[in-house]
Amino acid sequence: MDQGQQKNNNRIPFDEDNYTHNIRKENERSLDRRSFMKLMVGGAGVFAVSTLPWGAIAARELTGLSDKKYPATKVADISSMKVGDAVEFHYPGEHDSALLIRLGDNEYKAYQNACTHLKCPVYWSKEEGELLCPCHHGVFDPATGSPTAGPPRRPLPEIVLKQEQGAIYATGVKRYET
Ligand code: FES
Repeated sequence: MDQGQQKNNNRIPFDEDNYTHNIRKENERSLDRRSFMKLMVGGAGVFAVSTLPWGAIAARELTGLSDKKYPATKVADISSMKVGDAVEFHYPGEHDSALLIRLGDNEYKAYQNACTHLKCPVYWSKEEGELLCPCHHGVFDPATGSPTAGPPRRPLPEIVLKQEQGAIYATGVKRYET
């Protein structure tokens, strides 16, 4: 191999091909400081808007403000409850104790019955027509679950009910803003 051939082999194939030939010098200034800031602000805006719904959904989930849907679970046969009766059950999990109360001929209410003060089990007093907490004399309205006396400040979580084929079913849990 002579000297001239070796020189040719090491040559860049095209005179202008120095790996930067496609950069146009006149456009180099287009990404100046102002353009860069515009790009960043625009990018941040697009990111914020595109993630907003997911952030809102996540926030609702994390703060427990969304109504939770769970599989429908049979709680009691209507024929087994007289007006003023209550039935204990667990919903949605086996450790979530709850009370179903028949308040009228066609009026049923159910609540998770861990007191919203310090979690003592709230019970139904048929005589007084109230939900009572024995620990610190907390009282809850059976029509709404809201506290009416004592230290509790938040309502009992209400369980969503439906009637079907002569029975009461639990279908979800309502959440409240604190
Ligand atoms: S735990 Fe129910 S009133 Fe305190």
